[in-house]
Amino acid sequence: MKTIPVVTIDGPAASGKTSVSRELAQRLGWSWVSTGAFYRGLAYVAIKEKANLDNEKELVALVHKANWQVCMSPDRTQFLYNDKDVTDEIYKEEIGSAASQIGRHKKFRESLITAQRNCVSKVNGLIAEGRDCGTVIFPMAQVKFYLTAKSESRAQRRADEQGANLMQTLEAQKQRDKQDKNRAAAPLQIPENAHIVDTSEWDLQQVIEHLDSIVRAELKI
Ligand code: DC
Repeated sequence: MKTIPVVTIDGPAASGKTSVSRELAQRLGWSWVSTGAFYRGLAYVAIKEKANLDNEKELVALVHKANWQVCMSPDRTQFLYNDKDVTDEIYKEEIGSAASQIGRHKKFRESLITAQRNCVSKVNGLIAEGRDCGTVIFPMAQVKFYLTAKSESRAQRRADEQGANLMQTLEAQKQRDKQDKNRAAAPLQIPENAHIVDTSEWDLQQVIEHLDSIVRAELKI
């Protein structure tokens, strides 16, 4: 059986993972998934269903009982709740914070692993981005990256994108990074053998060129 190539891109909030994954996937003719969409989408569902974001059991039950679906598309990772596309809602910063809050629960994370791994079926190749893609979801990935940038550059990027206040964005982001790095279950960390790319001084095209050349060299494509 042919092995489907997987590339993982992990890193803190607003480090450019999504933009890079989208264009890299397009260049390679592959699919890509933001695993953050699982956490954001389920945080959205939990809020809508008035679940307690600190109650692991309630969150695991939601994963199994609620009607939700993550769909990959070339443009963005979509989230459907009760068959309605709520993707625009989940990418708001307050949902990002709620996603980070529910992402602390070990059993909740475990209940999402199979759905995330299933993204690799029926594709030519997969780019998976998030916090634990190279460590937990796809530890056998052929190429792994860890994207990072100074927190001020990342907050500026996100504030520009969302027309949000810079200081508030910076504060929310610091809080989220701290929570994602310090949790006991699958914390954000640099995967073994990952290429570390600091994007603070680079524009998007330079980052993409850099990753593209590494992937092609390592996969000999
Ligand atoms: O990548 P993102 O900003 O869309 O992710 C939102 C939050 O979801 C992030 O702060 C923590 C959580 N998350 C996670 O715990 N594990 C992942 N693989 C992806 C996201």
